[in-house]
Amino acid sequence: MKAIEKFDMLHVTDRVLVAVSGGKDSLAVWDLLTELGYQADGLYVGLGIGEYSDTSGAHARRFADEHGLKLIEVSLRDEYGYDVPTAAAATNRVPCSACGISKRHLFDKAAIDGGYNVLVTGHNLDDEAAVLLGNTLRWDIEYLARQLPVLPARDGFPKKVKPLVRLTEREMAAWCIVRGIDYLVDECPIAAGNKHLAYKAVLNSVEHESPGSKAAFYLNFLENMSPLLAGMSVAGKDSLHSCATCGAPTTGENCAFCSIVGKAAALDPVPVECVLGKSVGKSLSKRARR
Ligand code: AMP
Ligand code: FES
Ligand code: ZN
Repeated sequence: MKAIEKFDMLHVTDRVLVAVSGGKDSLAVWDLLTELGYQADGLYVGLGIGEYSDTSGAHARRFADEHGLKLIEVSLRDEYGYDVPTAAAATNRVPCSACGISKRHLFDKAAIDGGYNVLVTGHNLDDEAAVLLGNTLRWDIEYLARQLPVLPARDGFPKKVKPLVRLTEREMAAWCIVRGIDYLVDECPIAAGNKHLAYKAVLNSVEHESPGSKAAFYLNFLENMSPLLAGMSVAGKDSLHSCATCGAPTTGENCAFCSIVGKAAALDPVPVECVLGKSVGKSLSKRARR
């Protein structure tokens, strides 16, 4: 694959952990990497988003079984005493915020604990272009400087790579169909209102008017802008120390994940239906707090 070579993502000797959601992109990248001869195990994080999580886990498990691959599973509810809907209520923020913090922490932890030196995710061109549009609309230099398809390992974080950044959502769906991969088609039910979905819609309409714009927007950013932004990330230079609770690298006393656990694990579980509206946090957290 061109991206793997161009961005020097992986070597055959790497121990690779693929974060697998049960959706088309992550199953396709797991499939592609094993086809290319990489040693790649899977990691599935149970987020506790009702039926959506039950079904996504089933897809990831079935793919692993059918291909004789190892799938590591981590459940937020079973292992940390909360789930994404409850964390959304506890933090009074959109679900994607606690979801993202939880996933990133557990991806890093599973990779480090399991002795994997590379963590792979299934982010595709559409995902990255949408993130880029959001970062550009705010001229968020910090995020723009770190929006790279490869982040090297550093201070207790594994190397992170996104092999699908040159491929579109449609191409990944086509790959799954051709390869007979049964993936979860549904979108996350509590992601409605997520800004990235709106950015994707904007980019699709630009693409419709001017084919090729989406790829040019993202790939030319990597080619022309990323080199100019190299070294401009402040967070990339921050000195990190160990979280007082879990030992993960962080800038504060406790990491963001432990802060969520501290708030959400004390609540009664909040059903996913209660997080479908927008201003769930305030009313629910009062009702649910013990
Ligand atoms: P998303 O944040 O849903 O856009 O997903 C981006 C990437 O994160 C996916 O392509 C997967 O590699 C990974 N991912 C998302 N959800 C999960 C999950 N529940 N378990 C493991 N990996 C996931
Ligand atoms: Fe994270 Fe929907 S998958 S909030
Ligand atoms: Zn911590």
